[in-house]
Amino acid sequence: MIRPEIRTARLRLRPPALDDLEAVYAYASDPAVVKYMGWPRHTSRGMTRAFLKSRAEEFEARGTGTFLVELDGAVIGSTGLHLDDDAPAATGYIIARSHWGHGYATEATQAMLALARENGLPRVEAGCHPDNAASIRVLEKCGLRRGATLPAHMVFPNLSGALTDLLLYSIEFAPKVGG
Ligand SMILES: CC(C)(COP(=O)(O)OP(=O)(O)OC[C@H]1O[C@@H](n2cnc3c(N)ncnc32)[C@H](O)[C@@H]1OP(=O)(O)O)[C@@H](O)C(=O)NCCC(=O)NCCS
Repeated sequence: MIRPEIRTARLRLRPPALDDLEAVYAYASDPAVVKYMGWPRHTSRGMTRAFLKSRAEEFEARGTGTFLVELDGAVIGSTGLHLDDDAPAATGYIIARSHWGHGYATEATQAMLALARENGLPRVEAGCHPDNAASIRVLEKCGLRRGATLPAHMVFPNLSGALTDLLLYSIEFAPKVGG
């Protein structure tokens, strides 16, 4: 797949590098931002460093993965297109609180869906906490449809610790003509 950089109307999307530590730590350590994420809040820069290293390895192995979202040269969040041998491709997103409400998550996710379509992937999925209304809205604006609710499916590590339902959203692409 390998698309080292994607430009959208307002954003530059690119793989993470270790130099991005401070910008990523800033939002990954914000309790309000990570509330509904599937990974624990970063409580040290070491956690962010390990995360960036693993994301770089994913990109190297798969040619895709986490894309940082840059606005005017500053990292404001991330999105992704994640491949797995045993599951459909998956997307997700996180945006620093100071930049919520400007359509950036929608714009970045649309670019991930376009990348999936260009590469002939048949389906992209996203999971979401049932109370994450802003995220549900982003998924709907990007054309994903709500599917199954997986009951008591996972523990969201930044919430109570109880098993929680997971909403599954997905979008399917018609096969490319001639391809
Ligand atoms: C979810 C998130 C990525 C959205 O980022 P964003 O750049 O603000 O998203 P957009 O501006 O593209 O769209 C947000 C939409 O949600 C709506 N919205 C925001 N808060 C809402 C709420 N509490 N209830 C309902 N809708 C809400 C906005 O009005 C907007 O819809 P609109 O364009 O129809 O007005 C951002 O809030 C975030 O980073 N949250 C924390 C991380 C997270 O939860 N990630 C998703 C994990 S599944």
